[in-house]
Amino acid sequence: MKGIILSGGSGTRLYPLTVSFSKQLMPVYDKPMIYYPLTTLMLAGIREVLVITTPQDRHAFERLLGDGSKWGMSIRYAEQAEPRGIAEAFIIGERFIDNNPVCLILGDNIFYGDGLIRQLERVVTLKTGAHIFGYFVKNPRRYGVVAFDEMQNVISIEEKPEHPKSPYAVTGIYFYDGTVVKKAQSLKPSGRGELEITDINNLYLRDGKLTVSLFGRGIAWLDTGTHESLLEAGNFIQIIEKRQGLKIGCPEEIAFRKGFISPDELHELIKPLATTEYGLYLSRIVRQL
Ligand code: G1P
Repeated sequence: MKGIILSGGSGTRLYPLTVSFSKQLMPVYDKPMIYYPLTTLMLAGIREVLVITTPQDRHAFERLLGDGSKWGMSIRYAEQAEPRGIAEAFIIGERFIDNNPVCLILGDNIFYGDGLIRQLERVVTLKTGAHIFGYFVKNPRRYGVVAFDEMQNVISIEEKPEHPKSPYAVTGIYFYDGTVVKKAQSLKPSGRGELEITDINNLYLRDGKLTVSLFGRGIAWLDTGTHESLLEAGNFIQIIEKRQGLKIGCPEEIAFRKGFISPDELHELIKPLATTEYGLYLSRIVRQL
């Protein structure tokens, strides 16, 4: 399975923070935001990733992540010229996807919690159809909303409905087979001028090829779309990291623990960071193993 991180968009709700700087590079406590979705893919075992950025921000992402080889990954880049919707990622990524199954994660989505990895590992083997995740939220109107019948079959998925049929928001991590590219190419822009991911999900639903599972209440799916939620996400990460002395979303550590890089390669990564808190953390991780 390949992975795409969509990090386009103008981030207008975070102005003026995002006037000259990409939203997905903003700090969430001690790391740039994109580290969190990137490491979610890594934890699912995905090593081949396409990062889609705005043309103006591409170099900043390249400077941060490089070609991924330092973390035993392959990271490539593509541009989304205008914010034309999430589903455009599959049109932009057509050659990268190359008919393979693909996981799309939004560059501003943070997932955390016990059992998360097991749930992702179960769907990362998907070969046909689509799989998405629902999450109980207080205000489903802001999201894609998935509704079920009494047998837990999906009956509808609606984008930002006025009257949500359920409290389950569709989260920003999606798994599709290779036909997603053709499906994206067949879409027409919605009322807000975007190619909607909800329309892709509805095409799979119509064909009886969509499965949905829920992230339980022990999993945190955090929003970073407003100044308040961005700060809260940072506070959440800080509280857990401080209590445990373990980092959330640390690509070096995850690459090492997953066996993407060797102990020697990790030592090389630590050298230039040696005097920083981040480097000291990594040294401690190596010593504790
Ligand atoms: C998008 C999707 C929506 C989904 C949400 C998850 O919303 O359109 O279906 O629930 O991401 O973050 P947007 O960010 O475009 O408002």
